[in-house]
Amino acid sequence: MTQKKPIHLDLGKNSYDIFIGQGEIDRLGERLETVDFKGKVAVVTNPKIEKLYGSRVKKSLQKSGYRPLVLQIPAGERYKTLKQIGRVYDGLIENRFERKDLVIALGGGVIGDMAGFAAATFLRGIPFVQCPTSVVAQVDASIGGKTGVDHARGKNLIGAFHQPRFVSTDPAVLGTLPKREYISGLAEVVKYGVIADETFFQYLEQNSREIRALKIEKVSDCIERSSAIKAAIVQSDERESGLRKILNYGHTIGHAVETLTGYRSVRHGEGVAMGMIAASRLAVEMGVLHPHDVDRQTALLKDFGLPVKLPDLDPADILNVMAGDKKVMGGEIYFVLPKKIGSVEMMKVDKKVLRRFLKTLPKTV
Ligand SMILES: NC(=O)c1ccc[n+]([C@@H]2O[C@H](COP(=O)([O-])OP(=O)(O)OC[C@H]3O[C@@H](n4cnc5c(N)ncnc54)[C@H](O)[C@@H]3O)[C@@H](O)[C@H]2O)c1
Ligand SMILES: [Zn+2]
Repeated sequence: MTQKKPIHLDLGKNSYDIFIGQGEIDRLGERLETVDFKGKVAVVTNPKIEKLYGSRVKKSLQKSGYRPLVLQIPAGERYKTLKQIGRVYDGLIENRFERKDLVIALGGGVIGDMAGFAAATFLRGIPFVQCPTSVVAQVDASIGGKTGVDHARGKNLIGAFHQPRFVSTDPAVLGTLPKREYISGLAEVVKYGVIADETFFQYLEQNSREIRALKIEKVSDCIERSSAIKAAIVQSDERESGLRKILNYGHTIGHAVETLTGYRSVRHGEGVAMGMIAASRLAVEMGVLHPHDVDRQTALLKDFGLPVKLPDLDPADILNVMAGDKKVMGGEIYFVLPKKIGSVEMMKVDKKVLRRFLKTLPKTV
């Protein structure tokens, strides 16, 4: 078992630690004791995760004197709804949860967002803890306090900012993720290298085979470095008024691809991989990035087994989806574009330039 210094996220009275290490999932009880928590605990999870990790989590909590209540939400994004949140409230009310009691989110980003939202709103806010089990949840969703659910009209339309008491991340649990889910999550890891850290990007290039094969020491390094980058960005911009937007690198065109393919054939991370390549091509087109840096990203994403070619979509459709997105203002669309590996900037792109670029994209990517 490795036990390193936690990553500290300084947000004034909302500050917290991110504990990362193999075996962390068996230390949840101890962690709760160290934050001096004595109330009741509800573990919000899904049946899949419960089967895999429920007994270990319960054992750890029981060892520290807690008697956890387990509340389950069916697995999958389509259950990320207010209706399911209602069922979580029912469970908390039936078991007489009060303001001082606590919710643990045990699962991927869907569970993290939902358990967090339930905690943010129940009795106007009760404490919660993130115990993320997917790559996306570990390096992204569990850090930064964004919680919420989907609406029939769109993803994440209902939500609240609510920071966890701490995050408990065990990279070893990634071993049970479906392979495609794991690989898809690596796109977000690559994203951190491009937006903030060339040395980390190089590390990914040099260790891509071991990371892809889930070699635990390397995977742990990736999770740790990515979490530290996300934490630093959130720390400087808790409510997403500026810098935090750079986390959207690759997401503008990526979202459009996800939407146009009906959220079925393309995973989120796969869309992000394609979106990063498209955005960096656009940066070359605009004269802010050297083509070699596109090649490096393409090679790394391919090494991880991620797709880099956009499906055959109509550029007009891509533009339409982007126009309905939040990043559009007037006739210009805002993009996060790399200037080199390790550094990005928000830039506005004229719609006409974009239309021309999107037409040439299938030939260049
Ligand atoms: N709050 C934020 O800042 C933020 C950031 C990024 C993404 N998100 C949200 O996160 C969600 C996506 O998260 P995700 O990619 O983790 O999807 P997910 O939560 O649906 O998890 C993917 C699948 O993997 C399973 N799974 C998770 N961990 C596992 C494990 N260790 N072993 C086996 N199976 C496991 C889940 O049950 C699920 O079936 C989206 O709803 C997105 O909006 C939120
Ligand atoms: Zn993402």
